[in-house]
Amino acid sequence: MILVTGATGQLGRATLEFLLHRVPATELAGLARNPEKAAELAAQGIAIRPGDYEDYTSLVQALRGVDKVLLVSAVAFTDRLAQHTNVINAAKEAGVQHVVYTSLQRKNDTLFAVPGITESDIATEQLLHTSGLTYTIIKNTLWADALPLFVGQHVLETGVVVPVPQGEGRLTYATRRDIAEATARILTEPGHENQEYTLTGTTPTSFADIAGLLSELASKPIVYKQVTPEAYVEQLVGTGLPQPVAEYFAFSWMEAYKRGMFEDTDPTLARLLGRQPTSLKDFLRSVYLPQTIEKESNPIDYPSYIQNIKF
Ligand SMILES: NC(=O)c1ccc[n+]([C@@H]2O[C@H](COP(=O)([O-])OP(=O)(O)OC[C@H]3O[C@@H](n4cnc5c(N)ncnc54)[C@H](OP(=O)(O)O)[C@@H]3O)[C@@H](O)[C@H]2O)c1
Repeated sequence: MILVTGATGQLGRATLEFLLHRVPATELAGLARNPEKAAELAAQGIAIRPGDYEDYTSLVQALRGVDKVLLVSAVAFTDRLAQHTNVINAAKEAGVQHVVYTSLQRKNDTLFAVPGITESDIATEQLLHTSGLTYTIIKNTLWADALPLFVGQHVLETGVVVPVPQGEGRLTYATRRDIAEATARILTEPGHENQEYTLTGTTPTSFADIAGLLSELASKPIVYKQVTPEAYVEQLVGTGLPQPVAEYFAFSWMEAYKRGMFEDTDPTLARLLGRQPTSLKDFLRSVYLPQTIEKESNPIDYPSYIQNIKF
């Protein structure tokens, strides 16, 4: 039995959907704080088990009879390490053999970190290394799905991409769907025991490059314009983000970009998928020009995307 935590979230749900193509639903379970939110998965035969990262007893109960767990990392602005520790300890107590953890790409442990995220990722990984459990650590790049949040909903209308980073920070974006598909493979194929992978796209891309891609797609100039972090905060708040979250993006995340935390490429995602990952251009087309493609692979409804985002 494979259990995926965060089954009501975007990565967990997508991973379960890919798992359904690989193993019978009767061998799959999802952890949910609110099982009602996972009704669609339950309707497909996946067992939805109630559990909260902050409630150790609920975790032990949910993990009984499970062989492998995908621990979808806890959201930012919470005590992530305490929550991950609960899941890992509960996995041990319940007799789970293998925990797969979704960490975040980083350059190395001594360089700049995303505050609140990187430290808890490193500590969680150390906990797994010493837990006696079989582990797999997946260090994900930033998913492309977050881009509309940064560059804005109306880029094609305004003709301006307005990110804050000073300099030419570059990222190797990958789509969350591709990462979910690769994660499903890691959970079902042999050979991933005690491995650590960095999953990235293929091309380091700056915000100026993104403006270039959007210009090609829209057949009109879309320019890249830097603003001060303060002006960027104001813009993000205008899209509906709370002030502290906007400040976190404008200062912490953008600084991580600038310092190249997500710029390295790694061939593992392509290897796991057995194909090239979705290109950023194709992803941007699906978000900003869905009418130009026959079948949408990953449409984003921007207003509900903003509403649903949790940090
Ligand atoms: N690589 C990237 O670009 C990137 C970007 C954003 C986030 N992340 C990380 O990746 C994780 C998954 O991303 P996502 O987009 O799938 O996020 P998401 O849609 O917000 O999903 C988070 C999931 O975690 C669950 N959860 C939160 N707190 C919990 C708790 N105390 N106990 C049990 N479940 C809990 C949520 O349950 P509810 O439905 O009940 O809230 C939801 O199912 C995030 O949590 C974050 O650590 C990575």
